[in-house]
Amino acid sequence: MKGVLITYVPCVTAQPMEEIDPNRLPRHIAIIMDGNGRWARRHTLGRLAGHRKGAEAVRVIVEACREIGIPCLTLYAFSSENWYRPPQEVAGLMGILRDYISSELKRMLENDIRFNVIGDLEALGEPIVGILRDAMAKTAANRGMVLSLALSYGGRDEIVRAARSIAEDVARGVLTKEAVDSETFARYLYTADLPDPDLLIRTSGEYRISNFLLWQCAYTEFYFTDTLWPDFTKEELLAAIRDFQRRERRFGRVSGQAEG
Ligand code: IPE
Ligand code: IPE
Ligand code: MG
Repeated sequence: MKGVLITYVPCVTAQPMEEIDPNRLPRHIAIIMDGNGRWARRHTLGRLAGHRKGAEAVRVIVEACREIGIPCLTLYAFSSENWYRPPQEVAGLMGILRDYISSELKRMLENDIRFNVIGDLEALGEPIVGILRDAMAKTAANRGMVLSLALSYGGRDEIVRAARSIAEDVARGVLTKEAVDSETFARYLYTADLPDPDLLIRTSGEYRISNFLLWQCAYTEFYFTDTLWPDFTKEELLAAIRDFQRRERRFGRVSGQAEG
């Protein structure tokens, strides 16, 4: 057998997708897309270059979630506190948002994605509000996935607004004080038509919630990664989902009781 070269051909390795249990997908993934500024600094670029690169990652991750079959994806794009950044950065971010919507609307229509905004929409001003409303109206009948962008969003502000609307409805007599429970309360939030997030991902090595979905994350599983948002890939998204699927969610019960 001298001279016969036996080469080891590895069998086709399992694709990451195959390691995901399609029956236990998160119904709702929320992402705090952080680290654009640090990505830019690492590449000796201006902060806006980091935000533009971040918008490319958004495209990739939206497409990946649609492909995997995630019903709801919510992306934290601009917080109520981000208004206090330097005016040039805020203006640049608004420009990137406009470009994103105009370039992605066609793709959302093709991919059956319903576009949604949570946050203080009016604070964004025209023409952005018009562009966002137009995208929401045009995609309203889509059922493949709900993509929510959190814009001018603050969790505390959302809860305060809900409390105020509830107080108004009680005063007007359309709601009784006794009817205010957590289910009713949730109906007054921006996320009234969304399930609570099952999985929250935060990039860039920060371990905080930064005023995101404070009410909704009561029993959400958290996944933190050091990867900066512009470097976040579909592979890492799959890793986060795999990690999520290995966890036991107890919702206050004891191990072995049915997941609630
Ligand atoms: C996240 O990236 C994007 C927004 C908050 C708009 P950052 O801009 O916060 O990036 P870092 O945290 O400075 O790296
Ligand atoms: C959270 O990131 C907001 C978004 C990702 C849109 P920040 O960069 O604003 O949060 P902090 O300041 O580090 O907490
Ligand atoms: Mg940041």
